[in-house]
Amino acid sequence: MEGAYILPRIASLDNPLRLAVLISGSGSGLEALLNHQNIPRLHHTELIISDNHNAKGLKYGYEKNINTKIISLPEINNKIEQRILHEELIHIELIKSKIELIVLSGYMRILTPSFVAKWKGRIINIHPSLLPDFPGANAHRDVIKAGVKLSGCTVHLVDSGVDTGMILEQRQVEVLPKETIQTLQNKIKKIEHELYPKVLDSLSEGVYHSIS
Ligand code: GRF
Repeated sequence: MEGAYILPRIASLDNPLRLAVLISGSGSGLEALLNHQNIPRLHHTELIISDNHNAKGLKYGYEKNINTKIISLPEINNKIEQRILHEELIHIELIKSKIELIVLSGYMRILTPSFVAKWKGRIINIHPSLLPDFPGANAHRDVIKAGVKLSGCTVHLVDSGVDTGMILEQRQVEVLPKETIQTLQNKIKKIEHELYPKVLDSLSEGVYHSIS
């Protein structure tokens, strides 16, 4: 059986939670979070990690002088060893920066159960659908194909499944008849950029401590 979620401590303005944000792509969610943190909050981004050296989002870390690392998949043939070694390199950086919460923000790799076990309750993700419906990497495509009228986004704690961890908050949007993947993605990103920073505020305040 998997271990319980161990949430991060309740933070204070004097001692905000130390966040690491993991990205793979455009980083619009990271940008929204960094803007939210322009004034003192109960959390602060100390470290940004991308597995992709071309990720556009890296620039937000460089602009704000945040410790920003590219950690690509190591070049070894054995896929299992490759994943484990990659996560070990990430884990070392997280420890070095005394990270208390890992924020997945468009990070496109699935974490191994052994990595999740070390951080369970201290890894959070945002997914662009109303989970448990439409998990996985192609949520918008799957939503449109299914012809459903509502979609949205979900912030959840990460467990060892794919988009299966404990749901913290969701927001809905209407899926219009002429919706495309692009229009749906744009609409959902807008609400994601409001919701994710707010959930991080709540988590840092201890709002979810009673439900975990
Ligand atoms: C977001 O829609 C998020 O829900 C999903 O990946 C997307 C990341 O976008 N997990 P960006 O890289 O933050 O622009």
